[in-house]
Amino acid sequence: MGHTDTSTAPLFTPFTSDRLSLTNRTVMAPMTRRFSPEGVPGEDVAAYYRRRAENNVGLIVTEGTGINHPSSVSGSSIPVFYGEKALNGWANVVKQVHEAGGKIVPQLWHVGMTRNIGDLPNKEALPVGPSGLNLSGEKVTEPMTEKEIEQMVEAYAQGAAAAKRIGFDGIELHGAHGYLIDQFFWEKTNQRTDRYGGDIVSRTRFAVEVIEACRREVGPGFPIILRFSQWKMSDYGAKLADSPDELERFLKPLTEAGVDIFHCSTRRFWEPEFEGSNLNLAGWTKKLTGKPAISVGSVGLDEEFTSGRGAETTSLDGLMKRLNNEEFDLVAIGRSLLKDPEWVEKIRNGKAEELLPYSRDSLKTLY
Ligand code: FNR
Repeated sequence: MGHTDTSTAPLFTPFTSDRLSLTNRTVMAPMTRRFSPEGVPGEDVAAYYRRRAENNVGLIVTEGTGINHPSSVSGSSIPVFYGEKALNGWANVVKQVHEAGGKIVPQLWHVGMTRNIGDLPNKEALPVGPSGLNLSGEKVTEPMTEKEIEQMVEAYAQGAAAAKRIGFDGIELHGAHGYLIDQFFWEKTNQRTDRYGGDIVSRTRFAVEVIEACRREVGPGFPIILRFSQWKMSDYGAKLADSPDELERFLKPLTEAGVDIFHCSTRRFWEPEFEGSNLNLAGWTKKLTGKPAISVGSVGLDEEFTSGRGAETTSLDGLMKRLNNEEFDLVAIGRSLLKDPEWVEKIRNGKAEELLPYSRDSLKTLY
């Protein structure tokens, strides 16, 4: 990192919006950890999130957790969000985080067509998606029927209701990276000719129904965050929207459906989203919707991960300038915080030299 003289004050001002107040601007990015045997998050997972709350992370977004549908996740150590055992595990996570003074939302997830046939859990459950196409465009299963779509919307709504019941501070819907909701957004994976497919506005319809159904369950005061991205798991260059106009057409129905905060997933926070402006995806989203936006991407990572751009833009300095300009409201930190539970506190206290650097090996341990 090398920049210990940066004033990080903009990161440590309180955040207040209609439905969510936080003590500072830091967010733990959702990160799958595969430490929940049989889909149940245990004491070690609760302690992992608690450590972040104890060390002043403003808002924790949990790892993606599978909604109540047989093919929602791929892998039996990924936590699910249904059934008494898993929900009791999550209730303990919430209790631990709240005792430590933190706030936390679950990231509700369905992987859609990224699941392979035969994957655990529920080996027999087939992958589902808008057109039965995987991210390479190959046909794997039948397109979802309208009845299946309706049931899926209901599964998200049940997840939202469960989140509220067990005390979470809101929900985040995983609409990014090429998973189910994003498969509806993206024209490559959504080739439907009914009302769920077509132009970019029609392709938001599934998400709109999910958001509206969640809102119906949780009522007006409970925050709904939507995470979306241009990039896909298999395609870093993918674009939902090629221009600010198209992004606006995409965001409008989602805003009207009741999204409170947009979580705009990019791999590098300093990269301009469209030519002719320095704004990143979160910057554009805030400008176009008037809603608070979370930025993310390589915060605090060193050269190995930031591919040679100058420290001027990639450093915390660059981030603070954008935050100061109110380009976006919140900053999510992924890998840096996966490795070092004290990342936020160390930054606040000007102790960047004490940060534990992320490496690929870091994934093996719940630090
Ligand atoms: C992720 N990411 C991710 N995103 C998401 O929306 N849901 C998820 O479950 C996961 N899982 C996940 C696991 C691991 C191990 C990593 C490293 C990443 C993406 C993550 O939230 C974040 O957007 C990126 O990591 C970029 O932020 P950093 O790591 O550069 O700060």
